[in-house]
Amino acid sequence: MGTSKEAFRFVDLFAGLGGFHVALDELDGRGVFAAEREPKLKALYKVNFGIDAWGDLNELSGDEIIALNVPDHHVLTAGFPCQPFSKAGDQLGFEDTDQGNLFFKVHDVLRVKRPQHFILENVPNILKHDGGRTRITIIRLLEELGYSVKVEHFSPHDFGIPQVRDRAYFVGSLQGLDHFEWPAKHKDPTEIQWVLRHEGQSTRAIPEQTLRAIDMWGDFLRRSPASLKLPSFPIWAMEFGATYPYLDETPAGVWVRRPVRGLRRMGFKGSFGQSLDCSFDEQLTRIPSHANRLGDLNFPQWKRTFIRQNREFYQANRHWIDPWIARWSPQSFPSSFQKMEWNAQGEDRDIDNFVLQVRASGLRVKRPTTSPSLIAFTQTQVPILGANLAGERRYMTPAECAELQCLGGIQLPASDIDAYKALGNAVNARVVKAIAERLLHGLIRPTSDLEPLRVTG
Ligand SMILES: C[S@@+](CC[C@H](N)C(=O)[O-])C[C@H]1O[C@@H](n2cnc3c(N)ncnc32)[C@H](O)[C@@H]1O
Repeated sequence: MGTSKEAFRFVDLFAGLGGFHVALDELDGRGVFAAEREPKLKALYKVNFGIDAWGDLNELSGDEIIALNVPDHHVLTAGFPCQPFSKAGDQLGFEDTDQGNLFFKVHDVLRVKRPQHFILENVPNILKHDGGRTRITIIRLLEELGYSVKVEHFSPHDFGIPQVRDRAYFVGSLQGLDHFEWPAKHKDPTEIQWVLRHEGQSTRAIPEQTLRAIDMWGDFLRRSPASLKLPSFPIWAMEFGATYPYLDETPAGVWVRRPVRGLRRMGFKGSFGQSLDCSFDEQLTRIPSHANRLGDLNFPQWKRTFIRQNREFYQANRHWIDPWIARWSPQSFPSSFQKMEWNAQGEDRDIDNFVLQVRASGLRVKRPTTSPSLIAFTQTQVPILGANLAGERRYMTPAECAELQCLGGIQLPASDIDAYKALGNAVNARVVKAIAERLLHGLIRPTSDLEPLRVTG
């Protein structure tokens, strides 16, 4: 990396692996400052880009410190931490004192250094968070600094990269955004094969139980009659054979109303038709985990719908599902393996043709056109390739995941677990490049043509 040309200067806040850096370097930008709190990533940034990154941005704790330490630049980039705004988090937003207020650090640097342009990235839920108020606040605060601001969301698969990863991008400019148009989204199909490397694979072995769960659902698909359209709702095997109440009353409601006997002698059945004429503790284990929480006196409509759909599906298909249950005992698997999401309607039903992902919501089976979004917080959700895609069932390697993020040219963290995590946090370099090309078109030229930078400090 690195280039002798310097069309513009940029800073990379919350730098991580440096997805923004890779993109702007390709446009002949020069990184003049980066900040990354995680020591291993900070060290890696030096290896990849030759920059000694600042550590904790909270330590840029005042205008003078910012003015002194952050060099003048034309473009600020920041993928500020997304957990406070993510659907997967607790959604505290700006009130998350550790992470949520880091947007204000970005705001401080913009206010003090006044770069011409910025590009910010976050999860798409930030646009809807707190009923849209978070988005409105961010835009208002940036506009008050004199920036014109636009926001849009993109996924790498809109740019011919086989990963679905929707992200929100805010762009801003002190020169107005009349000239700016978002890049067009491509509709061309993609193939996960494009990023697979077939030699020298050594990945973490898939746990035995996961392999068995894949075999179990593979057999489910094989047994399903070809003439049957498989459900597009999540398949919840634990609802097969269940009749416990879920509409006017819930199991928790019965336990309140009949504290001694609970569901006993009411004629209901639990998961897989199990009797509920048993102790309270046993009743709890025979009601699916999505329905046995004490205090859940009403189920939301979506849950009622999934329960009803699964029970109806089972009743109409018992002739082939019952032998499947007898063969595999799905009740012996953890709850997440008792669920399957079939996202490949109309395809051949060989599970090894697909990309698989183990999620709390079940085993997701996806067409091999795209990978699911890489995520940072757990290694168990690394995409698994079916044997017909990769020669054997295996996890995608860090190098392949790097290709999904268009970060194939940089050194990755040494341990796989650190690499998957950093890649799950990273911004896709090609998406950034496509946006930056349009935003910076007036800047992408030799330095000698640039306005001199304002001198500070
Ligand atoms: C969403 S990731 C951004 C990843 C980056 N855009 C990339 O392409 O890899 C947020 C990053 O901010 C870092 N971070 C979180 N809090 C920070 C802080 N207070 N100061 C500096 N870095 C921080 C995290 O370690 C993480 O690497």
